[in-house]
Amino acid sequence: MEIDWSNLSFGYIKTDYNVRFHYKDGKWSDLEITDSEEVTMHIAATCLHYGQAAFEGLKAFKGKDGKVRIFRINENAKRLQSSCEGIMMARLPLEKFEEAVVRAVKLNERFVPPCESGASLYIRPVLFGTSPQVGVKAATEYTFIIFVTPVGPYFKGGFQTTPFCILREYDRAAPLGTGIFKIGGNYAASLIAGERAHDLGYSNVFYLDAKEKKYIDECGAANFFGIKGNTYVTPKSTSILPSITNKSLMQLAESIGMKVERRQVPVEELAEFEEAGACGTAAVISPIERIDDLDKNISYKFSKDGKPGKICTKLYNKLRAIQYGDEPDVFGWTTILE
Ligand code: PLP
Ligand code: COI
Repeated sequence: MEIDWSNLSFGYIKTDYNVRFHYKDGKWSDLEITDSEEVTMHIAATCLHYGQAAFEGLKAFKGKDGKVRIFRINENAKRLQSSCEGIMMARLPLEKFEEAVVRAVKLNERFVPPCESGASLYIRPVLFGTSPQVGVKAATEYTFIIFVTPVGPYFKGGFQTTPFCILREYDRAAPLGTGIFKIGGNYAASLIAGERAHDLGYSNVFYLDAKEKKYIDECGAANFFGIKGNTYVTPKSTSILPSITNKSLMQLAESIGMKVERRQVPVEELAEFEEAGACGTAAVISPIERIDDLDKNISYKFSKDGKPGKICTKLYNKLRAIQYGDEPDVFGWTTILE
């Protein structure tokens, strides 16, 4: 099958191989390489009934120099360990995560999109409980899989502004719940709200904190940032995913002389931002056109002409330049595939 690299959506395309580790009797196996797209498991596996499943998302990029760079493997490895602790799953050692990522990309190198397409190879690790339990208890056996798939932009049109909406009748995660972990259940919990937002013409839901609905949480499957003068403001919350893209953007913002504030952000403060963006591995930076508070009939606008703002564009270009190897990797974020 010929792949149209420049017109990829964010979806699944079969590649050559996926890689796996299995956890049993307190030990992780050696790496297994397979071309099967299937898994077989027990009908009482804990991932099916009690949601013991966590995933990650990272990307590999082919540069003008023909080299393939994988972005921040170690950060994703650490976050997966945190998710595993959060729902009592066996923790995958960091070096095993890295081994699996590098092998999965290497084995499917022909699927890394060419540089000029602006596309990338999405790497999807997933770890889940496979052994049976009928009582609510953690599994004793786990499987970890990485598959990869070439992807284009998460939101239609790529680097373009999109609108979000506030819908107070849905929460994604509770303040002391699982929002800080990248586990499947959080995404199940977000499906209805996401679908409602799409039906209403928005790219996704803009979540407020579940307890008081006073502070900003995040934007669908992406973190939020707002720009006020020379300051990058992003929410601090116990119910949002610690985004690796956001962490990178905070460093980039500081490196270009901006001030960074990570703190609770009251929803009314949206009126004070000149620019705003949703950021994540899939979203990269998706500049926000406007946020409509549908319960209060207020529209917060971040773009006068529908175009991305100056700072969003600058940060986007800086991040992409490091990912594609156009600028030196001064922060040590990328792993070059041998
Ligand atoms: N928030 C949620 C809920 C996500 O699913 C993601 C995607 O991974 C992000 C934020 C962005 O995180 P990252 O930049 O690490 O991809
Ligand atoms: C990502 O940005 O990697 C995500 O996880 C977003 C979504 C596809 C779940």
